[in-house]
Amino acid sequence: MASKMTSSTDSGTLCWSAPSNIALIKYWGKRPVQLPGNASLSLTLEKSRTRVEAAWQKHSEPLPKLDFFFEDKAMPAFSAKVEKWLISISDELPFLKNLKLTFKTSNTFPHSAGIASSASSMAAMALVIGDLAKSHGFENFSESIWLEKVSHLARLGSGSAARSLYPHAATWGEESQEYGSGVKELHPVYLNYGDAILVVDSKEKSVSSSEGHALMNEHPYRQLRFSMANQRVKDLLQLMQKDDFESFASLVELEALELHALMMTSNPSFILMKPATLAIIEQIRKARSLGAEVCFTLDAGPNIHLLYPNRARAQAIKLVESIKAQGLLDNNQWIDDCVGTGPRKEA
Ligand code: DP6
Repeated sequence: MASKMTSSTDSGTLCWSAPSNIALIKYWGKRPVQLPGNASLSLTLEKSRTRVEAAWQKHSEPLPKLDFFFEDKAMPAFSAKVEKWLISISDELPFLKNLKLTFKTSNTFPHSAGIASSASSMAAMALVIGDLAKSHGFENFSESIWLEKVSHLARLGSGSAARSLYPHAATWGEESQEYGSGVKELHPVYLNYGDAILVVDSKEKSVSSSEGHALMNEHPYRQLRFSMANQRVKDLLQLMQKDDFESFASLVELEALELHALMMTSNPSFILMKPATLAIIEQIRKARSLGAEVCFTLDAGPNIHLLYPNRARAQAIKLVESIKAQGLLDNNQWIDDCVGTGPRKEA
């Protein structure tokens, strides 16, 4: 729907922060344009966030202009990605074509922790653009569907970012393929679930997300995987209306290992777990067999997300300390994160 600009000012500043999220049912494999092969479901984190300080100014050249800084440094590769994204959304939001934008971004988690930041950073930048669209009078960025529109913009930058806009837990590809949605019926136990992010290897991911998703294009299990993952999202949504730790743990761990099984059985094949990843998985399962409510999930990399209901925090921290004492973590790094309430307008 065509909209008009009503803003009367020529420049301004604004600041948003958005959290990272950890997928419990993974988005792995996509279709053009930036649509998921299957539905996914994630927990929204609290402490692992990206903050974007944005300044905008009207200019006369017919393309969005961007100055991009990450922790005060120019990052040409990421800046090019963001500029491409801005151009791709500028037909939908033509006011962008006459803006010069400066984005100063920073993460609350260490750059060296090997934690992907595309979800939190694209979500935070989409919030800035959505805020500008609203203040420039774009009717389809009205209050009632604002988050959906922002999630749609975020998705075009990075699929998993579509889920970082909602408090506590979100799906993408369940209600809509175009944008993520907040999970509405959630048992209170999930509102402050713990996620101890155990850094096994802090190096950059050896397989980029785009390469990883492309592995699903010709994957022999493609169709089966997509339909099973869609069913798993439904099953987990049901499960998360209750406080049933055992069922939650077994479904979430099965899914994490399936993501890695898909990578191991693709062509080319990748093994992204490290010996320490497996050692930690064994110890989490051992602790669970002895009564601790702890389980794990994995991203497309070697690091472990140790998940636990808040009532099991003492046991979880004891386990983390023991894992650390055994030298299984890279530089002893771990992040004491938990489920949180989503994005924040900071200024
Ligand atoms: C394993 O969202 O990073 O973390 O859309 O290409 O930016 P792009 O991919 P991205 O993929 C995330 C993959 C995952 C699973 C998930 O978060 O659902």
